[in-house]
Parts: sequence; structure tokens; C-alpha cells
Amino acid sequence: MAKTLQAVRGMNDILPGESSSWQYLEDTLREVVHAYGYQEIRLPLLEKTELFKRSIGEVTDIVEKEMYTFDDRNGDSLTLRPEGTASCVRACMQHGLLHNQVQRLWYAGPMFRHERPQKGRYRQFHQIGIEAFGMDGPDIDAEIIFMSARIWERLGLRDTVLQINSLGTPASREDYRAALVTYLRAHESGLDEDSLRRLQSNPLRILDSKNPDMQALIEAAPQLPDYLDDESRLHFAGLCALLDAAGIAYEVNPRLVRGLDYYSKTVFEWVTDQLGAQGTICAGGRYDGLVEYLGGKPTPAFGFAIGLERLLALLEAGNAKIPVSHPHVYLVLNGQQAVQHGMVFAEQLRSTLPGLRLQTNCGNGSFKSQFKRADRSGAGIALVMGDDEVAAGNVVLKSLRHETEQETLSQQHVAARINEIIDVN
Ligand code: HAM
Repeated sequence: MAKTLQAVRGMNDILPGESSSWQYLEDTLREVVHAYGYQEIRLPLLEKTELFKRSIGEVTDIVEKEMYTFDDRNGDSLTLRPEGTASCVRACMQHGLLHNQVQRLWYAGPMFRHERPQKGRYRQFHQIGIEAFGMDGPDIDAEIIFMSARIWERLGLRDTVLQINSLGTPASREDYRAALVTYLRAHESGLDEDSLRRLQSNPLRILDSKNPDMQALIEAAPQLPDYLDDESRLHFAGLCALLDAAGIAYEVNPRLVRGLDYYSKTVFEWVTDQLGAQGTICAGGRYDGLVEYLGGKPTPAFGFAIGLERLLALLEAGNAKIPVSHPHVYLVLNGQQAVQHGMVFAEQLRSTLPGLRLQTNCGNGSFKSQFKRADRSGAGIALVMGDDEVAAGNVVLKSLRHETEQETLSQQHVAARINEIIDVN
């Protein structure tokens, strides 16, 4: 027999048993971002490759080795989006959403990176992202970080730590980069292969290295905060004051540099030690230069993205109670008359109780097998209709979860009785 076709490595199916957790997560996140007045923007999965090269940066891991890039039938180079910020900026510029106005936007959906798959790292993964345009003060940085903190609170997550840093303006970052390169060159023999390569292309990323043999060398390196310009220092102090005032705990991590080139001033990550190596559940920061770099007017911007697979894994690690959406009622239909009548009866019930989740037995089956299906559906109540009930205008209501007496009801009164037993809204 031919081998069953498999999904592409690192790209996961979300099975029926898992989808209610996803819906719960997405609904909760949507409620929180709407509570802050953010509007949804929906963006294509494919963009011109050039967009990502220019915005994320030519010498980043994403652009150098992780993009799904191909030529389409016209010979245009296209890329499956590895993240949402670049597309969001492109769309805002294309549709004139940044002219003399601020924007508070969110988006959700799959992103694609050809990374080495492991727990918490996939080739298709899902993000919910926030992007705010046109606001240059630390107040918007704080608002967006408050929002992320509120999301953890709403989900009942406690094991998350906020790390923040400032990368300064491009000019101050350049000064720092020069000092760092001078230092690292003087210690080249202590650098691993990856860092030697980065020394040429992206030396700040060396600070991110997890290689234990290089930690002492990195500890002793010049520190980014010592090179900050006054404007960035003031901005960062403003953000810290707002976080303090709101009682949001944070760690300043001077080595937090992020892996995408577009950031300036504030960067932040929410991390957890519950997920092993892939412990960052949310990351973002300020990217004041990107709109102008892509050909627009100078426009301050700030945003983040949450990795939904990781967030879900964290919820599960903490045994969070994730509500599951089962049918409320399963309709057992026994006999030809019952099937004929019951299908219409079910439609009437759905019209009377719009919040009701009602699953009708289709495909006949003995009482026993229908009750098995009813039980497996997770429904709390079975309604049973045989040809006798049809003739009498009745239906039998039976609890599937409690040892209570079954009730024979007139079909007209069933909706009211269901409403008494369960909250269908
Ligand atoms: P990022 O740090 O590349 O930032 O990704 C944000 C989050 O997406 C990560 O913290 C992680 O939770 C999740 N993530 C990234 N790669 C994977 C993967 N291969 N598998 C599973 N989860 C993953 C950005 O994407 C920026 N666009 C964030 C941003 C928005 N900055 C400003 N605005």
C-alpha cells in the first residue's frame, strides 16, 4: 500500500480536538486588543521578496536562510511572509493610512520560516501582531506593553518575565557597533565560527549567543546603554516610569538586541522558563525608521507579535482550564418518521434558541450506537425522538451527565425546558 502523504515538516495540522483551545486563545486576544481600540488589518500571505529583504535586513537569519522564496509564473520573486510587520507597513503606505493620522492595528495568521523544527519552533507558526503608527512618545510603548501584560493576566499566566532594552537611535547604535567590533576584534580567538561570521555582518547579534564558552567574553563587552544618546535615554526613562507607575515588573537586559534590523530605541520580549529553549512568547519594539526607509514620510512606529503555538504550550504547561466548545444537545432519531420530522424539529429549535449548539444524529444507527455518539460528542443532554414520540408530538429529554429521571415533554415546550437547564448564550 502506498505510504499516506504527510504534511510538510514543521507545518502542523490543528486537529478538531485542539481547535477549541485555539479559538479560546484567539477570542481572548481579540477581546483585549479591541478593548484598547485596535482595528484589524488582513494582509496577504505572499509579498514581493524585496519587501522582506529591505525591511527585516539582508544579513539577518530570516532573510539569509529562513525564507520560503520562489519565482512565480511571471518570474517575480515572491516570499511567504516570515512575519507581519513588513506587510503591515507596506499596506499602510500603499493605502495612504499614514498621512497625518495615527493608526492602531492588529493582525493574526500563519507565518513561515524555514528554521530547524523543534518544540516551540515550527516552519509554519501563528502570530497575533500589533502595530501602532504615528506616535513617538514612550506612552504608546507603555500602552502596548500594558496590553501584553493584560493578555497574560486574562489567560491566568504567571510565569512570564518582561525584558526591555533600548537600542538607541541609528546614530548611537552605530557608535556602539564600532566600539563592540573593536572589542570583539581584540578577542577574536575567543569567538566561535558563527560569531566570527556575524562580526562582519551583524555584530550586535553576537550578544545573543548562547554558547557557554563565550559568555565571559560577552559579559565584559562594551554595554549598549553606555552609548545611548540623550533622546533615547529620556525615552527609555519615560517608559520605565510608566511601567513602574502601572506596577508592571521588568528586567532591563542590555544584551537584548532582537534579530530583525528595523528596531530603534525600545525593544522588549516576554520570556518564560517553562518552554525550554524556545521561551520567548512575545517580542517587539519601536521601529521609527522603517516607513521612511521603505519610501514613506518619517513615521514613528511600535509593535509586537505573540507566538500562538508557544502561548498555547505555556497555557497547557500550567494546566490552565481551557474552555471546550461541545454541543449542548444531541438529538437521537429512531425510525423513519422520526428522521423526517426530527430534522425539521432541530431547525426550529435552532431558530428559537440561536445560541444553542445542537448536533443531530445522521446516518441512523441503533439506540445504543446513537447514545454512544451522543456521549462522545460531549453534549450534556440527549433529546430522543422515535416514531411514537412523533405521533404524540413529544420528545424525551435525558441528561447524559447526571443520574436524573428522563422527562417526556411536548415538542413545543422543549426550548423553554432547555433554557431552564443550561445557559445557551
Ligand atoms: P519575532 O521575534 O521574529 O518578531 O517573532 C515574534 C514571536 O513569534 C516570537 O517571540 C515567537 O513567540 C514567535 N515565533 C517566531 N518564530 C517562530 C517559529 N519558528 N515557531 C514558532 N513561533 C515563532 C516578529 O516577528 C516581529 N514582526 C514582531 C514585531 C511586531 N515587532 C514590531 N512589531
